[in-house]
Amino acid sequence: MKIGTPLSKTATKVMLLGCGELGKEVIIALQRLGIEVVGVDRYEDAPGHQLAHRAYVIDMTNAAELKAIIEKEKPDLVVPEIEAIATDMLAEIEAEKLATIIPTARATQLTMNREGIRCLAAEELGLATSNYAFAESLNELKAAIDNGIGFPCIVKPVMSSSGKGQSTIHNADDIQVAWDYAISGARVAATRIIVEEKINFDYEITLLTVRALNASGEDHTYFCEPIGHIQQQGDYVESWQPQQMSAAALEKAQHIAKTVTDNLGGRGLFGVELFIKGDAVYFSEVSPRPHDTGMVTMMTQYQNEFELHARAILGLPVSTDLRSAGASAVIYGGIDKTGIAFENIEKALAIPQTDIRLFGKPEAFVKRRMGVALAYADSTDAARESAKKAATIVRTI
Ligand SMILES: Nc1ncnc2c1ncn2[C@@H]1O[C@H](COP(=O)(O)OP(=O)(O)OP(=O)(O)O)[C@@H](O)[C@H]1O
Ligand SMILES: [Mg+2]
Repeated sequence: MKIGTPLSKTATKVMLLGCGELGKEVIIALQRLGIEVVGVDRYEDAPGHQLAHRAYVIDMTNAAELKAIIEKEKPDLVVPEIEAIATDMLAEIEAEKLATIIPTARATQLTMNREGIRCLAAEELGLATSNYAFAESLNELKAAIDNGIGFPCIVKPVMSSSGKGQSTIHNADDIQVAWDYAISGARVAATRIIVEEKINFDYEITLLTVRALNASGEDHTYFCEPIGHIQQQGDYVESWQPQQMSAAALEKAQHIAKTVTDNLGGRGLFGVELFIKGDAVYFSEVSPRPHDTGMVTMMTQYQNEFELHARAILGLPVSTDLRSAGASAVIYGGIDKTGIAFENIEKALAIPQTDIRLFGKPEAFVKRRMGVALAYADSTDAARESAKKAATIVRTI
């Protein structure tokens, strides 16, 4: 493996498609290794734009715009940070060998649509998932519930993320509202939804799984310690590591993660989302890239998830060793405003063993994730207390 000098003819170039808080940290990790980074996002001054060697604003769902920027910049690697990308164009770029798509173009195609990844996991790979069905009208949704999904169940647009358009149906009275909400929350104008049996899980985890080269130069799968998390309306608010699990559940979780990531292929870090009930483990979904709940690893691992991703995609060795138990808690915008300020940072950081990341997003919304509080401690319980306290002390104005 050879790395050149940024901004010279020998540069090793990586293009990030998506420059949010996760992309920003991947950029930091790459730049520490001397990589030349091109940051692309849909709006100006996105967090990662503020660090990249060059920044572009394009509509990444527009195939022609995407191709033009890749042809112009000629990156060695293209690293998607978000789902909403013209992934068929990524497949074309991969086929034409213009650049390596991380982890593979097929992985980005399958995971941008819940239908692709769910059918792969449940039907092709035979993994345990919630019962599910797809529907394209209110009547199809009602029929799916009647024909086996039952109550309670969860409706989601097939193309959405961060819980957008997602709601729970408790009884027949909720169906219309859930349908309308899903249709309004979809990323693209579409009427296809997935309805899933609600799993009454004990807890849910993200199993960060890394496909990287080992010391002998062969592909190997590494697992981080499981990350427990809490979601509100389908969006993560708190995470911690390690989540205690029975040996049987952990073994199943790793088996599922290996099966899915082996199938998706390529190199990089994946966030495999799993529901755990007793020793039973259900596959939910997977991100072929760093995961928001994995921000906790900035506090808990020698190599955080962004460094692991950077190393893996460059063909470098990785270590998923845990350094300490820890936790993360989200800092929200709290108001709709451009150019907000954060107060009480000194008070938050006065809590021992805490740290903070402010993403630098130009515009805040009440429920937009603007930062994260991190903490380490002897136990995840203590770390969670500190992280939550630090996140609450920070005030936005
Ligand atoms: N079938 C289910 N049973 C129980 N809980 C569920 C189910 N599906 C989703 N959830 C809950 O909703 C959360 C978000 O769901 P999911 O991951 O499918 O949505 P998402 O929009 O892709 O979210 P994100 O982009 O944040 O991962 C899950 O982490 C879980 O807490
Ligand atoms: Mg999810």
